[in-house]
Amino acid sequence: MQLFRSSVGRKLFMACSGLMLAGFVAAHLLGNTTLFAGSEAINTYAAQLHKLGPVLWIFRLGLLGALLAHVIFGIWLTLQNRAAKPIGYAKKTTQTTTLAAETMIYTGLALLAFVVYHLLHFTLRKVGLEPSLFSDATGQVDVFRMVVLSFQQWPLVLLYVGGLAALFLHLSHGISSIFQTLGVCNEYLLPLLRKAGFIAALALAAGYLSIPILTYFGLVTL
Ligand code: HEM
Repeated sequence: MQLFRSSVGRKLFMACSGLMLAGFVAAHLLGNTTLFAGSEAINTYAAQLHKLGPVLWIFRLGLLGALLAHVIFGIWLTLQNRAAKPIGYAKKTTQTTTLAAETMIYTGLALLAFVVYHLLHFTLRKVGLEPSLFSDATGQVDVFRMVVLSFQQWPLVLLYVGGLAALFLHLSHGISSIFQTLGVCNEYLLPLLRKAGFIAALALAAGYLSIPILTYFGLVTL
């Protein structure tokens, strides 16, 4: 309870849940790259995941818990910081900050909106293309067909580009902040850690972006 009450404790919850979510983002990208190996590869990968049954559900619940904790503590910390800020400085002091650091709450909320859309799109299949275009009479989904047909549509490509831009901005500050909060680095290592976090965020966003972009431009086809 003490941890919940202190702002250091809340930052620790943010860092631990952020680490879990960033780990998922990296693992999910690795899984998604099977798309480049063709239809059989990604469909076998999806089938193996679904075969995990209860283990998959435990993992999903853990991920959902981390997401909820991250969103709630993120909003809470932002409101707390705003309330603590003295109003109306006569002169603005110069402090080293970045656009990514200043906009964490906005990129975080945009990313949340993207994830909700993404789940409705690829997991629940309630938005986007008509499911009969990529599933057979028994309801069996062809994941390769679903992804490729989706990213042949420019509005969906644009939507994913927007979501992935939010992912990049959020992680470009978030990854290094996790290690800073967990005390893994000192003031000498901090600039190095910031650069490494930025490069990791860029690599993740570029990896994800390659899927809609290469598909839209016909380098991945049915
Ligand atoms: C171009 C980018 C992406 C592609 C092609 C993609 C593809 C997919 C597909 C096909 C599924 C459904 C798997 C299935 O049910 O068989 C899925 C699920 C999911 N994706 Fe993505 N994804 C992308 C980006 C992202 C990003 C950036 C995030 C998070 C920030 C994300 C989070 C999730 C989550 C949470 C699930 C549900 C996992 C589950 O069912 O356990 N995805 N994705």
